[in-house]
Amino acid sequence: MLTEYRNIFDSHAHYDDEKFDDDRENLLTSLFDNGVCAIVNCGSDLKSSKRSMALSEKYENIYFAAGVHPHEADEMGESDFDEIRELLKHPKCVAIGEIGLDYHYDFSPRDIQKQVFEYQLKLAKEFDMPVVIHDREAHQDTWELLKKYQPKGVVHCFSGSVEMARDILSIGMHIGLGGAVTFKNAKTPVAVAAAVPSERLLIETDCPYMAPVPHRGTRNDSSLIPCTAEVIASVRGTTAQEILNLTAENAKKLFFNK
Ligand code: NI
Repeated sequence: MLTEYRNIFDSHAHYDDEKFDDDRENLLTSLFDNGVCAIVNCGSDLKSSKRSMALSEKYENIYFAAGVHPHEADEMGESDFDEIRELLKHPKCVAIGEIGLDYHYDFSPRDIQKQVFEYQLKLAKEFDMPVVIHDREAHQDTWELLKKYQPKGVVHCFSGSVEMARDILSIGMHIGLGGAVTFKNAKTPVAVAAAVPSERLLIETDCPYMAPVPHRGTRNDSSLIPCTAEVIASVRGTTAQEILNLTAENAKKLFFNK
């Protein structure tokens, strides 16, 4: 535990994942005793959105996003979306997510991915809620839809170029950075980390995945966020605590409207 840090706002986590089944309760309690101030747990389908809601009801500082990930787009029926709509009314539901396009795995056909993504962008307008965007190797199509709907929200685990980051920023959205900025070959994420204005940066784990160096390949959790903050701080010429402070403030504004 890197206990010297505080104000750690993990804007994207999956603590409902089975990889946390053995020690979830102890881990989460220790996180909140060691500098983590809030966590947004993101759904990827109806079941995980419900599990995220349950976590938010159990832990004061866990909030959640409900939504359908592109991998699961194919499996969704109309009644599932009715249930997602109900989840969005929950007092601790702070975003629609994670939603978007994934052309790396293509687990769902692309036309269905796009339909489900677009439907949820419309939901974001209807409910006036931020979105949490997943974009993997689908930058052009993701951008087309974001440009069309101009939601508030964040492109999480941002993997695009500095040019694409500028597009995202130009419509008022945030950029979420995680463990990938610490990886050895991370030229583009580092360039993005240097270019994003302070008021648009969020920090995240995407745990249990994407553990930052020197923990790469192990199970990730929010206590490792300072490793990511240290790298972002070094390219921006500031301190890791300052990065934690400003990303926490940005996340509160975006998700809690304060
Ligand atoms: Ni995720």
